[in-house]
Amino acid sequence: MKTLTPREIMDELNRFIIGQSKAKKAVSIALRNRWRRQMVPKELRDEIAPKNIIMIGPTGVGKTEIARRLAKLASAPFLKIEATKFTEVGYVGRDVESMIRDLTELSVNMVKKEEQERVNEKAKVLAEERILDLLMPRRSRAAAANEDEAQEDISREKIRTRFRTGKFDETFVDLEVPDRALPIIEIFSSAGMEEMDMQIRDMFGNMLPKKTKKRKVKVKEAYEILIQEESKKLIDADKVTKDAIERVEQSGIIFLDELDKIASRDRTHGPDVSREGVQRDILPIVEGTTVTTKYGMVKTDHILFIAAGAFHMSKPSDLIPELQGRFPIRVELDALTKDDFYRIITEPENALIKQYRALLATEDIELDFNNDAIEEITDIAQKVNELTENIGARRLYTVMEKLLDDISFTAPDMKEHSITITKEYVRDKLGEFLQKDDLSRYIL
Ligand SMILES: Nc1ncnc2c1ncn2[C@@H]1O[C@H](COP(=O)(O)OP(=O)(O)OP(=O)(O)O)[C@@H](O)[C@H]1O
Ligand SMILES: [Mg+2]
Repeated sequence: MKTLTPREIMDELNRFIIGQSKAKKAVSIALRNRWRRQMVPKELRDEIAPKNIIMIGPTGVGKTEIARRLAKLASAPFLKIEATKFTEVGYVGRDVESMIRDLTELSVNMVKKEEQERVNEKAKVLAEERILDLLMPRRSRAAAANEDEAQEDISREKIRTRFRTGKFDETFVDLEVPDRALPIIEIFSSAGMEEMDMQIRDMFGNMLPKKTKKRKVKVKEAYEILIQEESKKLIDADKVTKDAIERVEQSGIIFLDELDKIASRDRTHGPDVSREGVQRDILPIVEGTTVTTKYGMVKTDHILFIAAGAFHMSKPSDLIPELQGRFPIRVELDALTKDDFYRIITEPENALIKQYRALLATEDIELDFNNDAIEEITDIAQKVNELTENIGARRLYTVMEKLLDDISFTAPDMKEHSITITKEYVRDKLGEFLQKDDLSRYIL
């Protein structure tokens, strides 16, 4: 398991997220704590409950982005899901337990992949032998009984050398491959039926006879197929399942986005009843319960939850008290400043300016931005956020798109191979929208 220190996690996050150091720090610690807990003696380990986090901040300041990037770093099963996807038992929507099932599925795939990598060398050796069996001339196999064994070994080694140097790559061999033509079964499931759906599908999968058919394939492809087959044989499926469940229980992380949307402000009104219902459904999973998955029972006691929400219309204190208590760490994300905007469109590895430059480079155009042009862009973005609705860094996307739409449109027909965006260009292109704030409301 790759284990990054909090500082390393922070550095990784810094490559994509500007500012928000409190939130980055909190998630870095939380991620590291998962690993620390693993190192603690067993008796105490079970006592250490995860310190769940709520990230609170306005729209478009990086909450979801932090989670996305964290997911890539966590060598732990990590699921990101919107709290709004769930509804109370019995209503249309997903049942809350499905998040544990999804997380388990992810974990199984993760462990499977690691196992495959682990046995890969061995599988290659075995697959090579099977390829050689296929390549050995038939008559020599039949005659092998009489023939000198040493003789056969020599020819086998010759074929091996030729196989390794790719001499047989394009040769065809007959290979038994699993027949993929399974009937398509689709089951329409509604809320609460997921479990059944899953069981039925498994049932059919096992009921259908495992057919194989002979296919002519090139040696190169056959080798790949055989590696797959051999590694499947080498992997102990039961152990994969057991390890995967262990991993979910001990180091799983669930990112619960849009938590504010299920927090009710006013407990006396109709529609809120169902929001509170969702909170009540989520509660046991956060507190620790056992969920049945197709891989077995999964305990949720030690799964880490990181929640996020803008909490514009509601506050964390609008959540039911039990749920509040389960999220002891609250971090606030700051509204982004003009400086942050500047850095966001220039610095991160996926920065907008870098994206547009790369896109236009495909049309053989070098796109440059003057410094004061970028200043002007961030200025405008900031102003539009103030004048209309503050959508944070997302505003940069709309502003940049509008700014560059002419260039994007005419790029393939252009004679020039380099374009520099100046402050004047930005003013020309976007200035008029700023004058009339009703326009900016719709266009930028
Ligand atoms: N601090 C930041 N650094 C770099 N990019 C950012 C930052 N904040 C926002 N962005 C950019 O803005 C986009 C929207 O941000 P994000 O999805 O994280 O918003 P959010 O905080 O989850 O908002 P919401 O409450 O509406 O869900 C991201 O895709 C990212 O490109
Ligand atoms: Mg978000």
